[in-house]
Amino acid sequence: MPDMDTMVSLCKRRGFVFQGSEIYGGIGGFWDYGPLGVELKNNIKRAWWKAMVQDRDDIVGIDAAIIMNPNVWVASGHVATFNDPLVECKNCHHRFRADEIPGEACPHCGNKGTLTEPRQFNVMFKTHVGPVEDDAAIAYLRPETAQGIFVNFSNVQQSMRKKIPFGIAQMGRSFRNEIITGNFIFRDREFEQMEMEFFVKPGSEDEWHDHWRDERLAWWKKTLNIRDENIRVKVIRKERTYIIGPDPDDVKEEKPPHYSKGNYDIEYRFPMGWSEVEGIASRTDWDLGAHQKLSGKDLTYFDDETKEKYIPYVVEPAMGVDRAVLVALFESYTEEVVRDEKRIVLRLPKTLAPLKVAVLPLARNRPEIVELAKKIVAELKPYMMAMYDDTASIGRLYRRQDEIGTPFCVTVDHQSALPGDEKYDGKVTIRDRDSMEQIRVPVAEVKNVLLSRLVE
Ligand code: GAP
Repeated sequence: MPDMDTMVSLCKRRGFVFQGSEIYGGIGGFWDYGPLGVELKNNIKRAWWKAMVQDRDDIVGIDAAIIMNPNVWVASGHVATFNDPLVECKNCHHRFRADEIPGEACPHCGNKGTLTEPRQFNVMFKTHVGPVEDDAAIAYLRPETAQGIFVNFSNVQQSMRKKIPFGIAQMGRSFRNEIITGNFIFRDREFEQMEMEFFVKPGSEDEWHDHWRDERLAWWKKTLNIRDENIRVKVIRKERTYIIGPDPDDVKEEKPPHYSKGNYDIEYRFPMGWSEVEGIASRTDWDLGAHQKLSGKDLTYFDDETKEKYIPYVVEPAMGVDRAVLVALFESYTEEVVRDEKRIVLRLPKTLAPLKVAVLPLARNRPEIVELAKKIVAELKPYMMAMYDDTASIGRLYRRQDEIGTPFCVTVDHQSALPGDEKYDGKVTIRDRDSMEQIRVPVAEVKNVLLSRLVE
């Protein structure tokens, strides 16, 4: 696995991710996705939506506003408890999260005994709604997408006539004023989440919690093609924390978040160590109960068959999109030596690859070759992300496409495009990214050959 600096540099060089506001020196915890990054991210989002909404009868989607009535965050507990312990060094004035400092010395200037006592720092971003910037106008940028689902529970259940158990899924931006950001796009201040609240009958939540642990783990492995040794589940219960999967001894005791009776955290083996990519929380009736109390609105569910009325319990799989992008990049990165030359390949699953095919002319000074290559790209574009490139020699163009994970290259040469050529066959070469195998295919069949090979 490459180190983080190698990945940051590849992402910048190849147009996946840029530092936010880079020409002004950047701004900590904000990143901009480039032309390839946005494709990869969208493909991951599409795969999640398909698995969680499109393929199922028991989950529907919504897209709620980012800014909500501030009482939402009072009820959810975020105003009171969504805090990180902040300490400041009296010598160098750098700030840190108290729970991430190993000793008494300041991690920046090394002075001992200069750190202040921890104070609770609320990580929600504040803003004002309307033209008057007084306390009555304060609102928050959402720190999780989940609450948009809870406050719409009755709207969705009634308008869609859903019966419990059922789920509501949502993806979108969340914001946290993290004290420490870092590890590239792993911990950001603006990021994207994909969350699903699954509403169940009280008493059945443990079974559903295990069910969603298995479903989500399977999704990560299949969609991002993750090897068993790089993914595991951390079980966080009030009584104890333990690991299911690799490195079971590498674990610290921790407590579930304020809203959860227990968590399964899916962790990936990043270069900086095992780190969370998705949390599957058993949220009980914490949220609906709290919103019912503060809003005064009835958020109970009536079961027609059993004639029971109750506040549903909730099991929540919640993942970070940016973290999934990082996992996809690390898991697919390979370096190999081919004919004494280093070849970097992103072996991305084909569904996730930003571009599916690059069409390359072998000679850019032959108009017939260029014209045919451009014609093939135009024919492919309605079906897949395709690009034309003639900015380097064919070897360099192949290497470039390998490095961004393009599964196929189509090369147009003299034989393909010049009827006068003695070897003319009207065929092009399709090259496979992983095996580097090359096959000759008639121009008219290129689209169907690619479409059939893109199905995984
Ligand atoms: N609704 C529950 C919730 O928000 P969380 O564990 O705080 O739970 C869920 O967040 C997921 O969102 C995490 O597993 C992670 O993938 C992602 N996430 C959280 N904070 C993040 C941050 N600062 N930067 C990037 N991703 C983050």
